[in-house]
Amino acid sequence: MKILAIETSCDETAIAILEIIGGKFEVRSNVVLSQIKIHKKFGGVVPNLAKREHRKNLPIVLKLALKEAWGTKSSLGDLVPKLDAVAVTSGPGLEPALWEGINFAKDLAKKWRVPLVSVNHLEGHIYASWLESEPPKFPLLALIVSGGHTELVLMKKHLNYKILGETRDDAAGEAFDKVARMLSLGYPGGPEIAKLAEKGKPKSINFPRPMINSGDFDFSFSGLKTAVLYYLRDNPRADKAEAAYEFQQAVVDVLAKKTADALRKYKVKSLVVGGGVAANNALRRVLNILIKKSFPKISLHISPLWLCGDNAAMIAAAGYYRFKAKKFKKNIKAVGNLKLSKI
Ligand code: KG4
Ligand code: ZN
Repeated sequence: MKILAIETSCDETAIAILEIIGGKFEVRSNVVLSQIKIHKKFGGVVPNLAKREHRKNLPIVLKLALKEAWGTKSSLGDLVPKLDAVAVTSGPGLEPALWEGINFAKDLAKKWRVPLVSVNHLEGHIYASWLESEPPKFPLLALIVSGGHTELVLMKKHLNYKILGETRDDAAGEAFDKVARMLSLGYPGGPEIAKLAEKGKPKSINFPRPMINSGDFDFSFSGLKTAVLYYLRDNPRADKAEAAYEFQQAVVDVLAKKTADALRKYKVKSLVVGGGVAANNALRRVLNILIKKSFPKISLHISPLWLCGDNAAMIAAAGYYRFKAKKFKKNIKAVGNLKLSKI
């Protein structure tokens, strides 16, 4: 069984082809064309620019993905008997950007006469962990940390989501991006802060850990961001590396504490971590230690680095389970604020 997936929810035009043989996943191709350079000068993603770029890039990325999977000779015509389904991200994300992927996917599915499934971008970040040799086991807890979302989700079986908690304001990645701007670092801010934080040492700064003991599984990073803003305003000669270090530490502490609380409350077999912020080394380190020391029976599945950022291989993995469950959809629409449980 082979599935082609398309992801255009933000500033990456991505197409992947996944082959499933005896239940095992083989990524045949995974092409990601990033628009970061274009959006960088605006300090964030401009929706209509993203839409224009997706429209221009989708046919190019498709050709590259086919080439990667089947070599130079493959043409679109050859593919009809080769593919069994098309999957596409329908939300959450920027609606103008999502529509480009959806319309492109609809055309392909029609042309190839194969079923079309829609995938929630966040479920894609969770299913990235199925592309590793040891897949997670149910029931599982998933921590999703991306540019737009911070969520703790309980999954008892495939495609079954219960949101235990989410951010009430800024997402973790969004806070990284905003604090990076305060520190005059580039976009996206996460990797820039992580790099600078390596040079920082804990000395005198003490940023808050918002909601760390709130007793629920919600997050809030807006207050932390404001604390950094005031600190930099009041200390114009501040050690920026130390500020980056302490900010990152505060985010990691909150994420790890809430995850540990949820692991204690819900008896799960695996912890899955995905999304752009899952690439953060400090977070990966702390979660590894947490599992080893306090939850040795739980298997930890943090997305490998090549699958943390937005890509279509993860959409294909989730799409495969939607295909298996026969969740075909003719009238797919872009939904900017699509919730995990509501696809
Ligand atoms: O999942 P993703 O690629 O896109 C969304 O679905 O939003 O996540 C992007 C976010 C950005 O906010 C970026 O700054 C953050 O992930 N990010 C990181 C790191 N790499 C990317 N945050 C912290 N540390 C990193 N190493
Ligand atoms: Zn994402």
